[in-house]
Amino acid sequence: MNNYFSVHDIDALTSWVEEAIDLKKNPLSHKELGKDKTIGLLFFNPSLRTRLSTQKAALNLGMNVMVMNFGGEGWSLEYGDGTIMDQGNSEHIKEAAQVVSQYCDIVAIRAFAKLENREEDYEEIVLKSFMEYASVPIINMESATGHPLQALTDAITITEYKPIHKPKIVLSWAPHPKALPQAVANSFAEMVQKMDAEFVITHPMGFELASQITNEVPIEYDQGKAFENADFVYVKNWSSYKDYGSSSQDENWRITKDKMDLTNNAKFMHCLPVRRNVVVDDAVIDSENSVVIEQANNRTYAAQLVMKKILEKS
Ligand code: CP
Repeated sequence: MNNYFSVHDIDALTSWVEEAIDLKKNPLSHKELGKDKTIGLLFFNPSLRTRLSTQKAALNLGMNVMVMNFGGEGWSLEYGDGTIMDQGNSEHIKEAAQVVSQYCDIVAIRAFAKLENREEDYEEIVLKSFMEYASVPIINMESATGHPLQALTDAITITEYKPIHKPKIVLSWAPHPKALPQAVANSFAEMVQKMDAEFVITHPMGFELASQITNEVPIEYDQGKAFENADFVYVKNWSSYKDYGSSSQDENWRITKDKMDLTNNAKFMHCLPVRRNVVVDDAVIDSENSVVIEQANNRTYAAQLVMKKILEKS
């Protein structure tokens, strides 16, 4: 594996998940693998979990870590080919990616969707330009349209908690005061399609994810009906793909205890951060069925597995 850009870079999900669970039991078992290697983490957007868990994962593998808040502290980058750079951008991605490659053995990047232009976001200009011009492997720490480290984490967490071999998993939209990207929901939807699961997506009309992501996954517009017999309820807000970037605060979709009571004692999942009592009630996120803290813990082992596979190949 050269890059970890999307969940489609996973060649054998079941064995990846098993290996990640093994790493969790013995996180320092490959402490020599990353000796004298350096990972650079470039953040164009804020983070808590991704930043710390990816650092922790690299340290577990014996790597050196450099972190840069590129959005606030780096030169603003130009991505256009042949652009006359007489406007705001100071540095071209061609130089920036090659220069960073001289300092790092792996580069991980976070660059969210701007939610202004769907075609531009779905072209994944930042991540794809780094992959084109860097000479070292690139890891996606959440791009405009995907969050594959989170999705691998979610597959690990579901495997750990599933009560039956083929659980029912529901991806539910929930309200949020700000328009959010589709990245987490996209990667989760792609990941669950690779798993042995009954999968349903529920959201208000107009909030359909891209059809090239959801494929044949059933969409249920009645949230209560979707929750019936669910073993996992994965909650996330996303803005509209169709009316690109538009959002809704419809509180009828907030996750309440009454709704969770419709499920098969389902585990509540969310990638975090989450707005309490807007997205989900305290009674749900504080319940014993909430696995959000363990999900965040598993971010380390998902990242560690991806780095391990890259290091083993290099
Ligand atoms: N889930 C997640 O990616 O969290 P952060 O945005 O805090 O990194």
